[in-house]
Amino acid sequence: MTQRTPVLVDCDTGIDDAMALLFLLASDGVEIVGVTSVFGNNTAAQCAINSLRVLELAGRTDIPVAIGAEKPLVGEVTYLATHVHGSDGLGDAGLPVDVAAQPSTKTAVEFIDELAERYAGELRILAIGPLTNLAHALDQIPGLVGKVRDVVIMGGAADAPGNQSPAAEANIIHDPEAAQRVISAGWETTLVPLDVTMREILTEDHRDRLAVAGVPAASFVAAATDFYFGHYGMDSFGRRSSACHDALAAGVLTGEVVPLSAPVIDVVVDCTDGPGRGATICDTRGRYRNFTGTSGGNCRVVLETDGTFPDVLVRRLVGAV
Ligand code: RIB
Ligand code: CA
Repeated sequence: MTQRTPVLVDCDTGIDDAMALLFLLASDGVEIVGVTSVFGNNTAAQCAINSLRVLELAGRTDIPVAIGAEKPLVGEVTYLATHVHGSDGLGDAGLPVDVAAQPSTKTAVEFIDELAERYAGELRILAIGPLTNLAHALDQIPGLVGKVRDVVIMGGAADAPGNQSPAAEANIIHDPEAAQRVISAGWETTLVPLDVTMREILTEDHRDRLAVAGVPAASFVAAATDFYFGHYGMDSFGRRSSACHDALAAGVLTGEVVPLSAPVIDVVVDCTDGPGRGATICDTRGRYRNFTGTSGGNCRVVLETDGTFPDVLVRRLVGAV
């Protein structure tokens, strides 16, 4: 039997976080060894319950879930994205609210510490919410960077517009100071920004295929994305559809999304209080020479993918691959 790669998912469980969890749970090469929650799409407490609801749907009540940060490193929470993910954070799609398993008694940082020790050198982290838990973990856990194999982050916008402000993407603007701490920590980091997540589009055809599959996880995603499509409306893509942000980052982590362009470049997060707050300033000047000769960056940034991931996602969720 091939050994599965241990993955910790740090998330603010909304609709696309749920897609990422379900995608990984159905993927052969990885094992989710724990989930930590953070404020963002909803409160960290609700996001932990949402993770448990999703895990229960997949029959994985054995995976521990720990509650993390309820507020950013600096200041207070400015908004929760219930307008994007529904009042329950999962598209109000009827997923049972009562869960068999309860959140861990450990904090997210304590749980990250435990997993980093247990899987030292092997642990991969998929960070698909604000980066507050990881920033706290870096400050509180000696030697953490050396114990983690890599961190894959859904967040930011390299050369694309933001989605929460003209310059900033939601996960980063929720806690820019934390994002800067995590991206500059010296561990192997991959950023999956809006440049690519807004180009991998779920459509009504995908929803139809999910809905008729007779697979609980697929039926749930079909139901939840009805709300998600409603948020994106016709404006984003000219048809009822949505991005699948966090799930795309999961595909990058498993290696099933092979970027067409993903240079290692310098990334700095704007932590000022001006209109650029939360922007990920990515040094993409290497575009002018096809990124040949670029060196010394702190982050691999996925700039281009081929648009086929939603199909892979659907096939994985219906059990076809
Ligand atoms: O900007 C997209 C990100 O913000 C995703 O992680 C999504 O879940 C939302 O929180
Ligand atoms: Ca998320």
